[in-house]
Amino acid sequence: MITKFSHRPSVTGLAALASIVVIVAMVAIECLQPARSEDTPANTSGFSPYVANDGAISLPKDYRESFVHLGTWAVAKDKDKPVFEMHNVYTKPEAIQAYRRDGKFPDGAVLVKEITDADAAKLTTGESSWSTDTKVWFVMIKDSKGRFPGNHLWGDGWGWALFKADDPKKNVATDFKTDCITCHIPAKQDDWIYTRGYPILKKTAAAPQ
Ligand code: HEC
Repeated sequence: MITKFSHRPSVTGLAALASIVVIVAMVAIECLQPARSEDTPANTSGFSPYVANDGAISLPKDYRESFVHLGTWAVAKDKDKPVFEMHNVYTKPEAIQAYRRDGKFPDGAVLVKEITDADAAKLTTGESSWSTDTKVWFVMIKDSKGRFPGNHLWGDGWGWALFKADDPKKNVATDFKTDCITCHIPAKQDDWIYTRGYPILKKTAAAPQ
C-alpha cells in the first residue's frame, strides 16, 4: 500500500511562519537601535546626528576620531604673558571639502572648539606651549534654513552651544546673542567664523601628494 505524504506545508502554516519571521525581524531591528535613555531627546529629522528635533545640540563624542583638525589658537592674556589656553578647532572632512569648493560651510557642518589648559617649557625647538586638560567645548552647527525660529540657541545661520568638562552632556549656553555673537562680530564677513586661523580651508592649501 502506498501512503502519500504531502510535503507541501499548508497555507495557514506558511502564514504562521511568515508572521514569526516578521516578529523576529522587528525584535532584532528594535534591539539594534541605540538605546535611548530618558535624557536623550528624539532625533529623527535627519538634519544632524548632534541636533534633536527640538534643536537641542549635543557635543559630538567622536570629534577626536572622525573630525579633522582645522587649526589651533594659542592664547595669552597679554603680549608678555605666557600662553594659558590652547583652542583646538575641528570639523568633519566633508565640511572642509565643501568649503574649498563653495567658499562656505555646508548646511549641517559642525565646528568644535576644544579649549584646554596649557603647559609651557623650553624644549629643543624653542619656548614651546602645548595642550593639557580640556576645560570646555564650543560647538557651532550650520543651519542655512532657519530651522529653529524662536530658539535662543539658533540664529544668524548657526546653532550655538557650550559644554563644560564636568558635565559634557549639558549645553550651558542660554542665548547666542548674549553668550556668543558679540565676540564673533569681527568675523561677521566670514559667516561669523574666524577663518584666518584655518589655512586648510583655502582652495590652494598645500597637501602632501
Ligand atoms: C570672549 C569672546 C568670545 C565668546 C564669548 C565666544 N567666542 Fe567663539 N570664538 C572667539 C574667538 C576670538 C575665536 C577664534 C580665536 C580663538 O579661539 O582664540 C572663536 C572661535 C570659535 C569657534 C571656532 C570657529 C571659529 O569661529 O573660528 C567656535 C565653534 C566658537 N567660537 C563658538 C562659540 C560659541 C558657540 C559661543 C557661545 C556659547 C562663543 N563662541 C562665544 C571669541 C568668542
